[in-house]
Amino acid sequence: MSKTLEQVGAESRCYNFSAGPAALPLEVLEQAASELSNWRGNGAGVMELSHRSKAFVSIADQAISDLRELLNIPDDYAVLFLQGGASGQFGCIPMNLLGNASRLDYVHTGQWSKKAIAEARKHAEVNVVATAEASGFNHIPDPAEWTCSTDAAYLHYTPNETIGGVEFGFVPEVSEAPLVADMSSTLLSRPVDVSRFGVIYAGAQKNIGPSGLTIVIVKRALLGNAHKLLPDAFNFELQDKAGSMLNTPPTFAWYMSGLVFQWLKQQGGLDVVATNNKRKADKLYGAIDASDYYQNPVREDCRSWMNIPFICGDSTRDEAFLQGATDAGLHTLKGHRSVGGMRASIYNAMPEAGVDALVAYMQEFERTGA
Ligand SMILES: Cc1ncc(COP(=O)(O)O)c(C=O)c1O
Repeated sequence: MSKTLEQVGAESRCYNFSAGPAALPLEVLEQAASELSNWRGNGAGVMELSHRSKAFVSIADQAISDLRELLNIPDDYAVLFLQGGASGQFGCIPMNLLGNASRLDYVHTGQWSKKAIAEARKHAEVNVVATAEASGFNHIPDPAEWTCSTDAAYLHYTPNETIGGVEFGFVPEVSEAPLVADMSSTLLSRPVDVSRFGVIYAGAQKNIGPSGLTIVIVKRALLGNAHKLLPDAFNFELQDKAGSMLNTPPTFAWYMSGLVFQWLKQQGGLDVVATNNKRKADKLYGAIDASDYYQNPVREDCRSWMNIPFICGDSTRDEAFLQGATDAGLHTLKGHRSVGGMRASIYNAMPEAGVDALVAYMQEFERTGA
């Protein structure tokens, strides 16, 4: 488990509930710090190494092989370490996969899928197979009611909506088209059967590593259809052939993510991580549901393990809540600017002690401050 605040000294480290860039395991930060100016006797730090050097190639290969092991990624899938963020992929995915098709299917479950849809519309007709907009995105629409096309190049969905705190607890089985998933805020939080997907992609800055790195896991059978105007640096097929080094990759973020993969393996792998994440989330939802003061708007079976929005009974006390939390070492609990209220992001690196501290603070604030 991660070190608690008591172990690291509450004055220097906070419990960081940021949605991303988010907290990283302290052990990873400490190892990176110790290697910052001289990586394993190499005479230079990782940031200063050529991406073509033997030293960096060994770091890169190890990270890929650890990620493959953690997610049990089949051999016929490419694992790419790219740049441009998940938002960059909103446009790159249609440009890589559309081919001769003219239609794309998307599920609309919140603000991130909305952005993905808007980008996809620049490239093709988008069929929104289901939307939860009418109910304020408080649930996942029932797949039995999705209106999928028969000729879509793929079906895209967002397994975890980071802003709304709505999560799919299942992989949809509704269409012949390959599944494409924006897993930015859920990848590595629990095991996933990669073979069910055509593409999985994620910005690294939540559960994986620092910002600047975008992971794309793509079934090789889908490659070879890229639009001719797609820049080579975002072409999955070319990047696969070049080992993600067609141009200079985000080397430091790649290295840091590799350290996170090793940390995850040391925790016992994704089964153990998932159990821990479920326990942490249950604790926080339990405290919210048991209180008359706090509320989470999401239907119980669709609640995110990673991002937990909540509102206080008296919104005029929100600033006092946030200030008191910061004073107690509980940082970045303000909700997304578009929805207000609070949001606690409790990714893998958030120790259970951080959730305990938040629950204790919430109960104390309800008792004395509300
Ligand atoms: C689910 C989801 N998709 C996409 C994004 C956008 O990611 P990026 O900033 O890497 O483009 C985010 C960022 O928070 C996200 O949570």
